[in-house]
Amino acid sequence: MATIALSIRTENLTKIYKVGWGRTQLGLDNLSLDVTEGQIFGLVGPNGSGKTTALKLLLGLVFPTSGTGEVMGLPLGSSEYKQRVGYLPEGPYFYEHLTAPELLRMYGSLFGMGGPTLEKRIQELLELVDMWTRRHYRVQNYSRGMRQRVGVAQALINDPDLVFFDEPTSGLDPIGAKDIREVILKLRDRGKTIFLCSHLLKEMEPLCDHIGILARGKLIAQGSVMELLEGDEKRYRMETTGLSDELEAKLAQRATGVVKLDDTVRFLFDGQQSAFEAAGVVTSEGGTLLTVGPDRRTLEEVFIEVVGEETA
Ligand SMILES: Nc1ncnc2c1ncn2[C@@H]1O[C@H](COP(=O)(O)OP(=O)(O)OP(=O)(O)O)[C@@H](O)[C@H]1O
Ligand SMILES: [Mg+2]
Repeated sequence: MATIALSIRTENLTKIYKVGWGRTQLGLDNLSLDVTEGQIFGLVGPNGSGKTTALKLLLGLVFPTSGTGEVMGLPLGSSEYKQRVGYLPEGPYFYEHLTAPELLRMYGSLFGMGGPTLEKRIQELLELVDMWTRRHYRVQNYSRGMRQRVGVAQALINDPDLVFFDEPTSGLDPIGAKDIREVILKLRDRGKTIFLCSHLLKEMEPLCDHIGILARGKLIAQGSVMELLEGDEKRYRMETTGLSDELEAKLAQRATGVVKLDDTVRFLFDGQQSAFEAAGVVTSEGGTLLTVGPDRRTLEEVFIEVVGEETA
């Protein structure tokens, strides 16, 4: 069967917060989004752009001012799907005096779980997030990374098909962040759908299948990571280092653009052939060729471009 199942669908989802004295604050502006089952969807955007608001609307934690949506085929906010999703809030709060197994037992009981099934699940999850050997520690003695690991385990206690993570790696050191990313990829391999919010573009680019970019509550770009990052199809990029002034000038004549970075020089070409010919010149005339290939942009470049246009 080749039907594409949607895990999330929203149409013109809008949230306007009331902030007292009749004043309002825009949270989210007409968000229309499709998230396919089994993918990692990343919502990125600057601070205050509406990421957490979108996530809370999808979880039914706040009500939309207007617009509609479905999660796992059920209307937004309905209690039937709330039992079947997982959620890691931003900076999760836990009871300080509990250990990880005690904490997970408590969350498990909220889902009607108990007995040996729950104990087995707790061990599996604590192993997954590398906290099993540290299971006797109390939350009050946790590092930030340990809190986040247990937060991930908590979000998975009910074996959800769809998991929401709000800034899952913020404030973690590089190894902690990498471990969390690996857990997220493992979850996708097991067929789960992941909805992530983050402003860490460098992390989101290799992790996500699909990305939506929010600015001031509006979705200003979305697509598969491939679609978003592909530049102009015919443009090629060559990066070099160790060029003599003479060689650099010679290459610049062939190129349509030159960008000088610290000790590398990047040339842009129209078409593959002129790029490859120039690469030949670099190697035969004593320069060092670093890369040559299609001019794929980074998520950061795309982000700055579209957010810049939006806020201009
Ligand atoms: N409970 C609330 N009451 C009033 N305004 C709110 C509330 N929650 C969020 N907002 C406002 O809505 C807008 C979007 O906030 P939101 O928290 O969704 O952004 P975000 O993209 O998650 O930001 P961050 O990257 O800082 O987490 C902001 O202007 C924020 O001040
Ligand atoms: Mg947020």
